[in-house]
Amino acid sequence: MADKGKCVGRTPEGQVVFADAAAPGDVADVLVRKKKDDYLMGHLLTIHEYSPYRTEPFCQHYEECGGCQWQHIGYDTQLEHKQLMVENALRRIGKVQTESMMPILPADRTVYYRNKLEFAFSNKKWRTSEEMAQGEVAQQNVLGYHRAGAFDKILHIDHCWLQDSPSNEIRNALFEIAESQELSFFDVSQNSGFLRHVMIRVTTLGEVLLVMSFGERDEPNIKRYLDAVLERFPVLTTVAYCINPKPNDYWLDLDVVPYYGKGFIEEELGHVRFKIGPKSFFQTNTTQAIRLYNVVTEFAALKGTENVYDLYTGLGSIALYVANQCRQVVGIEQVEEAIEDARINAALNGIQNAVFYAGDVRNILTEEFAARHGKPDLLITDPPRDGMHPDVVKMLLQLEAPRLVYVSCNPATQARDLNLLNEKYVVRKSQPVDLFPHTYHIENVALLELKSRG
Ligand SMILES: C[S@@+](CC[C@H](N)C(=O)[O-])C[C@H]1O[C@@H](n2cnc3c(N)ncnc32)[C@H](O)[C@@H]1O
Repeated sequence: MADKGKCVGRTPEGQVVFADAAAPGDVADVLVRKKKDDYLMGHLLTIHEYSPYRTEPFCQHYEECGGCQWQHIGYDTQLEHKQLMVENALRRIGKVQTESMMPILPADRTVYYRNKLEFAFSNKKWRTSEEMAQGEVAQQNVLGYHRAGAFDKILHIDHCWLQDSPSNEIRNALFEIAESQELSFFDVSQNSGFLRHVMIRVTTLGEVLLVMSFGERDEPNIKRYLDAVLERFPVLTTVAYCINPKPNDYWLDLDVVPYYGKGFIEEELGHVRFKIGPKSFFQTNTTQAIRLYNVVTEFAALKGTENVYDLYTGLGSIALYVANQCRQVVGIEQVEEAIEDARINAALNGIQNAVFYAGDVRNILTEEFAARHGKPDLLITDPPRDGMHPDVVKMLLQLEAPRLVYVSCNPATQARDLNLLNEKYVVRKSQPVDLFPHTYHIENVALLELKSRG
């Protein structure tokens, strides 16, 4: 297995080939799509010898979707490769000792594990080879996922195994209602059309949030459409929308207009209840998020007296999770709405020892900030995929918190940052946690201790 879920092999002449949809041990023909001087890249075409690690994918969209890249590989093998991915990155780039690496924590539930999914409306359907053979026309309305590598084509989804009921029912009804009301679907090439994008979020408390993006501010049609959806799904607890006239689907920078319900949903993670606004980051696998935060708590080993910083705090999830075990927790996050939620969440849970700041960690976390809030005894950091900015790493080295807990969704950038932190820190433990079965994505938690001087 290589990076991003691809397999790496060799041609009979010895040339390196990277292939999608392959499994370790396959002997296969690869349709080459990219030729570089020192490697080829392509897609698996015909398998001559099957890998012993293969299993039958259970999703009807697996071949075309690309969302769950590893459905053709047994779950135990997926876990082995995730473990190796983390270990290799941390050992090679992060200079982490193998003794500190703990075995991956698997997911109990390997289907319907996501609480959030997003789908795009389009008038350009990606036609499967079967549909092309049946002569389906190219210009067709569709609601589903972006096709990897084809920015303007959307794969129609009938059933997705990632999100629990009523997600599939709602998405399919959104399509049917749109067609019956003869509404226009978005046309990427013209940057026009009414229906654009939808996010569905469900919680274990039975709440369901729907956020629609419309390409045009057509109030009567917005009302007609959303009322029909609400009538069909009384289970929806909050419906909101935004108007997106931009050339891309990104909607987090747009105003979200509440349409129905309280404007947010609620979820419980262990002992903490969270209010989640439409724009706030929240771990997408609720059950495994609890497991992840329990690892953080275990690594943190708080005694009740500590001053804790939680960088990239989102809506304060980790900060509030550990607040009852320390003297004070200080959270920093760049999305202002998330920080508003964090403060509301603190109040909701009667937590009085948590303070939150909105802004880029790079600008907020300074020597002066640390002087004002007290130097951290423990610093928790959970940056996005790109990892921490080198200036932030520099600041951590300056602050010299006795312990750091580094949560990451990208072992490569985590390893890069650990390598920089190596100047003053040693990695004591590394614990991978699987939050995303059937994909190559993996979370890893590392515990770092300040090296003793002299
Ligand atoms: C992987 S999430 C972690 C959120 C939270 N710790 C949790 O477990 O739910 C990363 C968070 O960092 C925020 N973020 C990204 N870049 C940032 C920056 N430069 N400064 C502050 N926050 C940032 C994102 O908005 C997001 O909420």
